[in-house]
Amino acid sequence: SGYITLDYGFKNTGSTKSAITFLDGEEGILRYRGYPIEQLAEKSSFLEVAYLLIYGELPSQAELDQFTNTIKSHTLVHEDIRKILDGFPANAHPMGVLSSLVCSLTAFYPESITDRSKEQVDLNIVRLLAKMPTFAAWAFKNSMGHPVNYPKNKLDYCSNFLHMMFSLPVEGYEVDPVVSDALNKLLILHADHEQNCSTSTVRVVGSSKASLYSSVSAGINALWGPLHGGANQEVIEQLDAIKADGGNTQKWVEKAKDKNSGFRLMGFGHRVYKNFDPRAKIIKGACDQILNKLGVNDPVLNIAKELEEAALNDPYFIERKLYPNVDFYSGIIYRALGIPTDMFTVMFALGRLPGWIAQWKEMNEQKEPISRPRQIYVGATLRDYVDVTKR
Ligand code: CMC
Repeated sequence: SGYITLDYGFKNTGSTKSAITFLDGEEGILRYRGYPIEQLAEKSSFLEVAYLLIYGELPSQAELDQFTNTIKSHTLVHEDIRKILDGFPANAHPMGVLSSLVCSLTAFYPESITDRSKEQVDLNIVRLLAKMPTFAAWAFKNSMGHPVNYPKNKLDYCSNFLHMMFSLPVEGYEVDPVVSDALNKLLILHADHEQNCSTSTVRVVGSSKASLYSSVSAGINALWGPLHGGANQEVIEQLDAIKADGGNTQKWVEKAKDKNSGFRLMGFGHRVYKNFDPRAKIIKGACDQILNKLGVNDPVLNIAKELEEAALNDPYFIERKLYPNVDFYSGIIYRALGIPTDMFTVMFALGRLPGWIAQWKEMNEQKEPISRPRQIYVGATLRDYVDVTKR
């Protein structure tokens, strides 16, 4: 009943009031709980940022220690979950494996579905933050056909993840602090981005009073798509294709401008940023630094820079305000860190997890109504059923 406003893709629809992330697309500003992303990426740790997003304030040292230690005590996963993992074929995309394993937590912790007490919600949160890196690294191990590495809790969050990814079969593997610092920065930059597609998914699913684990599992699936988090995998595949094609970036810019080509420049454009993406700016700088420190010379970095230059000087991209987004340079760093291409979107999911949790929690605390958009019906008008023999 009443008047319905049609807004495809919710381009102009606000779905909630939120106190978590401030974003100004014209000015290229991004802040978590008021703190500029630039300062957090430079000075903070991923778990500290997770705490900030979820609980609203930076933790005291005692709060941070307690949060970190509780997470460490939950990194191990039930052995039967490993059996679920064993059932996946080696060529399963790790995003599908990740969302399935996250959803399986509803089966291993059924109280997480019904008990809405603060203690239970906090426990669900800690379990999820603790187990996601284990699931992610194990999804990779499964794709290699290798045995899994169990968590090592004396390591920090990022180092433990790298250990589970790489320590077996590499004898005497030691986590390189340059690599874990780079990972820490990337995860912070991905930690929240207000009402993007996957976060809105988490809130929409959660609004039916679905559990945290099932809501986040849905968010992972939304993130997987190539127009969202899946773009980081596609960017590197595109850069490799440009390299294999002789490195003529202008040719690919022309292709992206041709609407009939069905081709877009992946890692370019954003629904909200119309000037620059502040995350892309930091990641581009970090990319040069990290590759230098690691002594990695990846020719696609030059191709990426040339492609950016060519696009930013092209009227098509200028008129439409299309700039490199967070996904444009992140894949080059992930590759330098030794992360395989089909794990890039999983890395994004690990980073976005605190944001999803914070938004799910806020939506519940604000007692928001079930999400249920309306439509304008354009189908057939009333007609009578025709028996199958008469059709
Ligand atoms: N290459 C070529 N043309 C583009 C591109 C691109 N990457 N992005 C947008 N356009 C054009 C589009 O064709 C349209 O042209 P016209 O006005 O002539 O019809 C105009 O620019 C506006 O684009 P839109 O698709 O209406 O904008 P949107 O807000 O619906 O979509 C987007 C935003 C990010 C989905 C889109 O820019 C895109 O597909 N980019 C490539 C995929 C990508 O990098 N995604 C990652 C986004 S950032 C991180 C994340 O969310 O995970």
